[in-house]
Amino acid sequence: MTSASTLLADLIVENAAQLVTCEHGFGDGSTGVVERGALAASGERIVWVGPASRLAAEVTLEPGGRRLDARGRVVLPGFVDSHTHLVFAGSRAHEYALRARGASYQEIAAAGGGILSTVKATRAASVDELAALARPRLDLMLAHGTTTTEAKSGYGLTTADELKMLEAIRRLNAEHALDVHANFCGAHEVPPEFKGRTDAYVNLVVEEMLPEVARLHLARYIDVFCEEGVFSVAQSRRILEAGARHGLKAKLHADEFVTLGGAELAAEVRALSADHLLEASLGGVAKMKAAGVTAALLPGTAFFLGLPYAPARKFLETGVRVALASDFNPGSSMGCNLQLVMTMAVSQMKMTLEEALLGVTLHAAHAMGLEGEVGSLAPGKLCDLILCDVPSWQHVAYFYGVNHVSQVVKRGRVVWGA
Ligand code: NIG
Ligand code: FE
Repeated sequence: MTSASTLLADLIVENAAQLVTCEHGFGDGSTGVVERGALAASGERIVWVGPASRLAAEVTLEPGGRRLDARGRVVLPGFVDSHTHLVFAGSRAHEYALRARGASYQEIAAAGGGILSTVKATRAASVDELAALARPRLDLMLAHGTTTTEAKSGYGLTTADELKMLEAIRRLNAEHALDVHANFCGAHEVPPEFKGRTDAYVNLVVEEMLPEVARLHLARYIDVFCEEGVFSVAQSRRILEAGARHGLKAKLHADEFVTLGGAELAAEVRALSADHLLEASLGGVAKMKAAGVTAALLPGTAFFLGLPYAPARKFLETGVRVALASDFNPGSSMGCNLQLVMTMAVSQMKMTLEEALLGVTLHAAHAMGLEGEVGSLAPGKLCDLILCDVPSWQHVAYFYGVNHVSQVVKRGRVVWGA
């Protein structure tokens, strides 16, 4: 029986063992768990979330609408990856081998490897080639539950090559089920042509690259690798402020290897997020909290480089919002599985399972300024969800190193699995 007051939907997800909304105050606990929950969507957006027992009375499926049988699986919001370098050419497998023999990431970079070796390969690739290389990576991300990602430029480091990377990202976003949001990271490294002339390169980024990126609407964010020997706090400030004048939202690589004041800068410019923070000062993180900046921690990088993890518990004590991202890139974190990132956060950084899940969903959405769109299952948000074959949502992190995602819905459509 339909009644005039029921909501119309064209997709109903039912028979879930648990529906984890990641909405505080909805369902149980900080992750908003609804046991035997159901969800309804219309077009690309969620219109209803609640216990299955209320579904029939409150929602009507339109003729031709689809019922998706969760078959006792656990439904979670699609994961959000707020920090990736997924567009690149070449491989750095040889550096991985060198590091196993004791070389550090910085030593490899100083010897001409590192980011600059990827720059060389990326400069030699066309837009088509870059997109073709990134497509299967996006497929893997989707298969592991990521439905929204950020993607940085920063392996071009000339105006033409940065625009080429951003054009590849634009194309990938248009073609692929996953939403890919571009981050202009022209200040990812000082290119060899500008060695010893970092200020001149900053001029190029601010005066030539940035206006073109903005004019062509190729990026939503701007990013800087604020690090000793790369871009100073003053240079980073200049770039982020110039980006803001062009309407780009600031994110930054902050205090990854050295305590430089990146966290403080993020607070000062009210960045969406400061990322890495392995060596950030607690005072700086407290300033981020006061300014509403999200701390995006990237445990995959510490794991892959064999470095100590960020002191997540100390950060959490300041009350700062903590997101978790993959940092997917060929040098410091060749991985894109956010389920495994959750495990690292819990086992290595002592985050709770709830904090880890919020880190790859709602808090990651905050790190991208997309908290009104994605990151939780709530009416009005995009219908981006994953179905996991686990007895309860905690098993997604607890049973590690395997893929628990068996089906992915993006913008109301089943885009992966069955
Ligand atoms: O986030 N720190 C700078 N950027 C990347 C590394 C990129 C690379 O090594 O290619 C990072 O770790
Ligand atoms: Fe990075």
